This record gives sequence, C-alpha cells and structure tokens, in this order.
Amino acid sequence: MRLTGDRSLAVAALAARWSLWVLAVLWSGGSPALGCYTRIFSFGDSLTDTGNYVHLTAKSHSPYGAPPYGRTFFGRPTGRASDGRLVIDFIAEEFGLSNVTAIQTGTAPADFRHGANFAIISATANNGTFFAGNGMNINPFSLDTQMFWFRTHLRQLVQAAAQNNGSGGAVSTSALLGGALVALGEIGGNDYNLAFSGGVPRDNVRKFVPAVVDKLAAAVEELIAMGARAFVVPGNLPFGCAPLYLQRFGASARQWDLDAKTGCLAWFNRFAEYHNQVLTARLDKLRRRHPDVTIVYADWYGAMMSIFQDPGKLAGFTNALGSCCGNQTVACGKPGCRVCDDPSTYGSWDGTHPTEAVYKVIADGVLHGPYASPVALVDTC
Ligand SMILES: *[C@@H]1O[C@H](CO)[C@@H](O)[C@H](O)[C@H]1NC(C)=O
Ligand SMILES: *[C@@H]1O[C@H](CO)[C@@H](O)[C@H](O)[C@H]1NC(C)=O
Ligand SMILES: *[C@@H]1O[C@H](CO)[C@@H](O)[C@H](O)[C@H]1NC(C)=O
Ligand SMILES: *[C@@H]1O[C@H](CO)[C@@H](O)[C@H](O)[C@H]1NC(C)=O
Repeated sequence: MRLTGDRSLAVAALAARWSLWVLAVLWSGGSPALGCYTRIFSFGDSLTDTGNYVHLTAKSHSPYGAPPYGRTFFGRPTGRASDGRLVIDFIAEEFGLSNVTAIQTGTAPADFRHGANFAIISATANNGTFFAGNGMNINPFSLDTQMFWFRTHLRQLVQAAAQNNGSGGAVSTSALLGGALVALGEIGGNDYNLAFSGGVPRDNVRKFVPAVVDKLAAAVEELIAMGARAFVVPGNLPFGCAPLYLQRFGASARQWDLDAKTGCLAWFNRFAEYHNQVLTARLDKLRRRHPDVTIVYADWYGAMMSIFQDPGKLAGFTNALGSCCGNQTVACGKPGCRVCDDPSTYGSWDGTHPTEAVYKVIADGVLHGPYASPVALVDTC
C-alpha cells in the first residue's frame, strides 16, 4: 500500500509539474514561430543547397555526395555542402517546417507540403550571357535557372490545389505564396569567386556587384507580383576569412591587406561589405515600393565576423580559420581525405563552406537578432 501511495504521490507531483510546464509553454507562446509561415521557398548556392546538385550530378559522383559530408547531423551525405544542417534547416525547424525538400529530389506535390528549395551548389546570380560578356566561358545554374524551376513548380502547385479545392474553383498564386517565407540567397558569392579564381582584375570584379544586386531585386519583384509577402535576404559572408582564399591569396598577403587581429584578408572582406551595402540600399528601395511586404536583411557577414573577432567568446571556435575536412591535395569527400575530430571547433568544414556550428550561430542571429534588420526573423510573425 505504502509503495502504491508513494507512487501515486510521485505521479501526482509529476502531473503537476507537467501541467505547470504546459502552462509555461502556453504563456510564453511555446516556440513563438510555430504556425507562422505555411511554406518556405528558398533560392541560393552551396550555402543553401539541400540536395539538388548531388541529385543532378549523381552519375559523376560529386564529392559533396560522399562521406564525411553530413557526418555531424544526418549521419550520412545528404547533398548539403557541410557536416550537418545549414541556415535554411535551422530556419525551417524554428517555423515547424523541418525539411524543405530540394526541388530536384521530390516527385509529387505532397513532397513539397512545406515548400521547396531551389538552391544549388555552384549557382550564380548572373547567367551565362553576363559571364560571356565578361570573357568568362561558363554556363552556371543561375538565379534565372532557379526562377524557371520555381515558375514550373508553382504551376504544378496551382493545378494540384485546384484539384483539391472543394468549391472546384481555381487557386491563385497569391493564395499559395501569401503565407510563405521566401529565403532569397545567399547568392552572388559565386559570381565573385569565379571571377577572382579566373584572374579577373579585382577592380573589374567590383563592377559585378550592381549586376548581382539587380538580379536579386528582379527576383524579389517577380515573386512579389506572384503574391509573396515575406522575404529574408542574406548578404555575403566574410570570404576573406575562408581557408581557400587564405591559401590561394595569403602568400601575397600585403596586396590583399592581411588583418593582424583576425588573420583574414581584409580586402576581400571589404568587398563583401561593399556587396552588402549595395544590397541593403536596394532592399530599402524595395521596402518603400512595397510597404505591405516584409523584407528582412540577414546579416550573415556580421554574424560570422563575430566568430573571427572573438573566437573564444562564442564558446569553442578554437580553429576559426581552419578547415576540418580535406586539404589542397585530397579534397573533402574524395577517398582517403583527412577529417578532424570535432568540426564544431572549426570555422570551415571543407575550406569553402562553414561548419554546422557556424551555420547555427548565423541562424540564431538572424532568427532572434541582432543579425537581422529591420527586425529579427521570428518577430515577422
Ligand atoms: C529530412 O531530411 C533528411 C536529409 O535529407 C532526412 O534524413 C530525414 O529523414 C528527413 N526528415 C523528415 C522528417 O522527412
Ligand atoms: C540573362 O540575364 C540578362 C540580364 O538580366 C537577361 O536580360 C537575359 O534575358 C538572361 N538570359 C536568359 C537566357 O535568361
Ligand atoms: C476555391 O475556389 C473558390 C471558387 O472559385 C475560390 O473562391 C477559392 O478562393 C478557392 N480556394 C482557394 C484556397 O484558393
Ligand atoms: C593531405 O591529405 C592527405 C590524405 O589524407 C594526406 O596524405 C596528406 O599528407 C595531406 N597533406 C598535407 C599537406 O597535409
């Protein structure tokens, strides 16, 4: 009897604690962002791709589809160019939309209940015509390619929704996009990467910036016209701190203005800041033209710079400028590549792309501030 009594007391105590917890969650609104957005549509490059590139290049066995990619979170390669989740994954989790399916990997409309991800490794903002005009013979997956995929997808969603509409009527694109969050970027970084690695003089690369920002703004305008009402638009990362750039250009450090405090190449970081200034000015203009549309600028640069400026403060980035996986001889994802024990202490996963730990710092700063403007992303609900 005594035992039973004790147990029922314990159960009662537990139940009380449980209901207190439930109340606390209700009072605080739980996760403030659940139910905030119906879907996420996202565009970008390798910083946001969750499987498109690896799916399309399956025959050529891209290293991004091989171990140890995906090792930290998914436990296997997923086509993400990192050891785990990306900023878009953390944003989707926050809004209760975990898994925004990569557009090339889904087949039925049901696969895209939570939205779709059009981002693809290697993507540029500008298209092949622009690069040809600048003496570069490349034909990348541009933002135009992704917008083409998006228009096709939207037509399919409209058709499927019309079939499901009990009233038998058509469903407008604004009914599908009005409750969605559009994550546009980061994109444009590869326009610059390709130019710098192709030896385009640096002052000429500066002239790419307005063209990149024009492409972004044109995509925002088109999406608004289709009915989108909420955007998050990230800027460029401080790529003067990326191991690939430090290796390639660090030997002529004086020319690229090595910053003694951070160890980064300051010239490239100022370039990223310039891109971000032109972008934020354009976003201001778009906000004035469309006062009913929410456009959050995501300051990926500031969030990541906070790590390099004080790697100790954000617990544990003891290898902020280092790369965890692969080296110049054997790249990450190639057979026999070398990999570190603890990616969460590194700024870079594979020399070019951040680790999941860095993406988490960025995502937190965008979702909850201070690395978002004019408001933190969760406050757009
Ligand atoms: C989300 O995506 C990952 C990687 O693509 C996959 O392993 C996981 O099963 C997915 N989760 C859900 C709930 O679909
Ligand atoms: C390429 O981009 C330019 C500039 O935005 C645009 O005028 C042109 O239509 C695009 N070409 C294609 C094939 O999308
Ligand atoms: C379904 O069709 C009706 C009648 O045409 C229309 O008024 C309604 O907006 C449609 N539903 C949605 C979700 O768009
Ligand atoms: C690069 O990685 C390969 C494969 O793990 C290793 O054999 C080689 O020693 C490494 N090179 C350098 C310079 O660390």
